[in-house]
Amino acid sequence: MQRVAIVDPTESTRESLRTLLLGVDFVWLEAECARYEYFFDVIQTSTPDLAIVALDADKTKALTMIGQLSAENPKLPILTISHDHQALLMSLQKGAKYFLTHPVTLEDMLAALRRALGETTGGTELSQGSTARQSGASSVIAVLGSRGGVGTTTLAVNLAATLAADPTHAAALIDLDLALGDADIALEVNGFENISIADLARNIERLDMNFLRRAMAKHEPSGLSILRHPLEIAEVGVIHEGHVERILNLLKISYTHLVLDLSKSLLPTDLMALRMADLILLTAQLELSSLRNVVRLVHCLGGEENLADKVRVVINRQGAETIEEGISLKKAEEVIGKPIFWQIPNDPKAVIAARVAGHPLIKHAPKSRAQQSIHGLAQALYGKPVTTPDVRGSKGGWGFFGKR
Ligand SMILES: Nc1ncnc2c1ncn2[C@@H]1O[C@H](COP(=O)(O)OP(=O)(O)OP(=O)(O)O)[C@@H](O)[C@H]1O
Ligand SMILES: [Mg+2]
Repeated sequence: MQRVAIVDPTESTRESLRTLLLGVDFVWLEAECARYEYFFDVIQTSTPDLAIVALDADKTKALTMIGQLSAENPKLPILTISHDHQALLMSLQKGAKYFLTHPVTLEDMLAALRRALGETTGGTELSQGSTARQSGASSVIAVLGSRGGVGTTTLAVNLAATLAADPTHAAALIDLDLALGDADIALEVNGFENISIADLARNIERLDMNFLRRAMAKHEPSGLSILRHPLEIAEVGVIHEGHVERILNLLKISYTHLVLDLSKSLLPTDLMALRMADLILLTAQLELSSLRNVVRLVHCLGGEENLADKVRVVINRQGAETIEEGISLKKAEEVIGKPIFWQIPNDPKAVIAARVAGHPLIKHAPKSRAQQSIHGLAQALYGKPVTTPDVRGSKGGWGFFGKR
């Protein structure tokens, strides 16, 4: 934990600076000061790792104080904040090392803090989770359906819960099926505030880590966090693609894995999610309309650079005679023009029971064929074993690791 001291005589901006910093898990707000003339003494007594100086209340006083502070404490990094580029430049001449222009977003602040504190400590003292995220290790998987009811949500929830079971991971599921999403049925969370993605979108300009964290409801048994779809369908309109981009970027700071359950409407919010994803799992079944839509979707995504390359086709409910129309895997691959990446068996007993219980398969039916297959999929996606204590030792007989 790194200790930070701030000075800002203007109460309103000091307040928002405080709120911003309180949400950052690797800093501790050691001291807060409302007068430039007292800040020097505050630094001597609190000896923080970083000083943050807001310049705009009185630039002359602030710059003089920065000159004195940097002369007396040459090792103390100083970060300045202002609307005025000229003042920021002068603060650098006086000894400040980092600056941010008003208005300061959470992303800007996090990046500046990481740079400032990472350089002083060699990055070793930032909290473990933060440094893991800092290395860009966060992975985003979008799950898209080829028609209604093919198992998109089932796959998204259970893959996310499987990833969450690895103690080195922090996984979150984002329900981007904004109007009709039901991931919160398969993953029932209780006792959390009702903050949905619509509330985040409405407050996007004031978004801080605390509010974001409160919106992420945790399913305690699996350790998986979920950002829920809007409570009211009418709220869907408040969520734009820019909101999705910003929310996902912020979540990437705190989570190693984000799994996105998309709508089937290819809305701008879905397209943004597809662009931001590292991989797109296109869920299908071995029947005509689903496979035809796979072809159409791959063609459509091919219109945008990089999107089609990220697609991996996953056949769900393999072996369900009532669904399959005698289409072989080979035939399906010929039609799609792409290899089938994975198959998940039809396993209604386990899947339905888990859904009714509101728990993911890894908790409700860890030995089920569907869960074993999803566990195999997680390993195949990451090319390494995913440690999920509940299924360790079981031999996964399902799944198919196709050519990429
Ligand atoms: N592997 C499976 N074996 C048996 N049943 C399954 C399997 N996968 C999904 N199902 C069942 O299929 C139904 C639809 O699944 P799900 O809600 O995940 O699909 P979806 O594509 O998200 O649907 P929607 O179009 O409503 O978003 C559910 O009743 C679920 O229990
Ligand atoms: Mg769904």
